[in-house]
Amino acid sequence: MKKLILVGVGLLVAALVSTPAVVMAADAEAAVSSANTFNRLLQKPAEKNLPPAEDGIHDAENDNTYVLQPPKIAFDSLVRSDFGNYVDWIKSLRDQKISPRTERMGGGEEAMIMDLDIIREVRGSMPNVVFPHKGHTEWLQCSNCHPDIFIPQQGANRMNMAGILLGQKCGVCHGKVSFPIVTTTCRLCHSQAKPEGWAPGKSAASVDNPWQ
Ligand code: HEC
Ligand code: HEC
Ligand code: HEC
Repeated sequence: MKKLILVGVGLLVAALVSTPAVVMAADAEAAVSSANTFNRLLQKPAEKNLPPAEDGIHDAENDNTYVLQPPKIAFDSLVRSDFGNYVDWIKSLRDQKISPRTERMGGGEEAMIMDLDIIREVRGSMPNVVFPHKGHTEWLQCSNCHPDIFIPQQGANRMNMAGILLGQKCGVCHGKVSFPIVTTTCRLCHSQAKPEGWAPGKSAASVDNPWQ
């Protein structure tokens, strides 16, 4: 169990520090990140969850890289998902398959878990976005998001899908350290169905000039 947590933290830290600029500096092959494979122009990595020395994140020259438990072994007892690194992290945490430390060296304060859903209405036909504070604050402190990524006020932040796919707002983490944006995950964020009888709004032109 101890080893497993260490690998988890190691991966998270490694992923957080590998900013796009760093990735760009690596050789051309490594330059395509596995982040948002929703973009069909980006080649998908042939294999996921490679051992640390082969994953392009850890230093293969460093002996300590070989001390790390390979993800395929570390993830074996966790709840599976169909995307990302094939682990359902939320379920694994709630089923107590893992118990992450709140501080790197242990002995941290208890996590402050906040159960507050924020609904972001989507103007198009896609279901509305529900941002659950609970699933996030089980892992993250408020200061991971507030105020740098999001002003803590409902509706105060502008976001759209293009920006998210480019790594802004939710995309700061999703596709990097949390589940990726692929066709099988749209509904995890877009989880609130439109109310019954909902129809897309008309443009100003078609309101002024209804030809039907
Ligand atoms: C993973 C990112 C993330 C974390 C961590 C996070 N929040 Fe938020 N928070 C958001 C987002 C996104 C919104 C909605 C902003 C919007 O709608 O523009 C929000 C909104 C809020 C709001 C405004 C609610 C309202 O009704 O206007 C408050 C207050 C808030 N957060 C407090 C907290 C506190 C306290 C914590 C820690 C216990 C926390 N947040 C952790 C992302 C986060
Ligand atoms: C990590 C969460 C997340 C995932 C996964 C996600 N979206 Fe979004 N999506 C958002 C947010 C946040 C918005 C902005 C909502 C708003 O206007 O406040 C958005 C907005 C949109 C919009 C409205 C237009 C726009 O560009 O803003 C469309 C369409 C959309 N998403 C489609 C998709 C599709 C298709 C997928 C799956 C491939 C997907 N989304 C996956 C969070 C997500
Ligand atoms: C600071 C990092 C961070 C940001 C920013 C972030 N998330 Fe997450 N999100 C996570 C982590 C970590 C998890 C849990 C691991 C996982 O499921 O991959 C998660 C899980 C989720 C879940 C699953 C929660 C559950 O209870 O099953 C949803 C839905 C989600 N995020 C939506 C969003 C949306 C929408 C946004 C933008 C408004 C967003 N996230 C921004 C880190 C983040």
